[in-house]
Amino acid sequence: MPELIIVTPEKQPGVATIQLNRPKELNALNLQLMGELRDALVELDANTNVRCIVIHGNQRAFAAGADIKQMADKTAIDMLMIDQFSTWDRIRKTRKPIIAAVSGFALGGGCELAMTCDMIIASESAQFGQPEIKIGVMPGAGGTQRLTRAIGKAKAMEMVLTGKFISAVEAERYGLVNRVVADEIYLDEAMKLAATIATMSPVAVMLAKESVNRTYETFLDEGLHFERKNFYLTFASEDQKEGMAAFVEKRAPVFTGK
Ligand code: CAA
Repeated sequence: MPELIIVTPEKQPGVATIQLNRPKELNALNLQLMGELRDALVELDANTNVRCIVIHGNQRAFAAGADIKQMADKTAIDMLMIDQFSTWDRIRKTRKPIIAAVSGFALGGGCELAMTCDMIIASESAQFGQPEIKIGVMPGAGGTQRLTRAIGKAKAMEMVLTGKFISAVEAERYGLVNRVVADEIYLDEAMKLAATIATMSPVAVMLAKESVNRTYETFLDEGLHFERKNFYLTFASEDQKEGMAAFVEKRAPVFTGK
């Protein structure tokens, strides 16, 4: 039984939900949670009663990123050997459509997880960001690739290089999310969208998802690989140790460029 997610295979006819459930840690995506998420998606993909999947967090956080405390002491080689992104690769191969219902923080790996899904419904209080730069690293789960494709180079570059967050309204304006709705109904809205998709031919839906993704997937593979190597390389720097230690110790980091 998963401990850090809640899976409901038939929340509505044809629609399964997965709730990320580490509320105290703002749903920080540690290795266990991501492993559970991968296993759940593999199972739901094989469950013929399920036609569409909704992933959500809670009102305060979709997910505030990869778990910094779990990564803080790691070396570049540790990161390479742990190979945490193989889990993400499997998630990306889910054949059924996945909708991210996002409220609150979707930061770092949280923003990347939302972008790995096929569509995003955001609540008015959702905030998106790639703040890795503030802790001496960079996005490693597809942020540089997917954000740039979604919102264009200028906006993506600013977010990745400054770590600034954007509001749900900005995210909609830039084309990152499908739509923004009131906090009270963001999950219902995602469920409605999922219900519509669940009435379509599951075969046609699967093939159509695959085809839309194919528009950039070959190139995406290369980009993800390139990003991943550079992310690991940041763990060879003193700045990564300083940035993550500063987060854990709740102080401002002092970066030296080493
Ligand atoms: N990893 C581990 N713990 C986290 C976390 C994270 N990404 N984000 C939040 N938490 C923890 C906090 O440490 C805190 O725990 P304690 O109560 O034990 O101190 C708890 O969640 C609540 O967080 P805050 O007290 O910080 O809440 P806040 O409202 O003051 O701030 C926030 C919210 C702005 C989201 C802030 O928590 C924050 O900046 N989080 C980190 C965001 C981030 O840098 N994400 C990128 C991670 S790296 C990554 O994702 C790499 C990749 O590409 C795969």
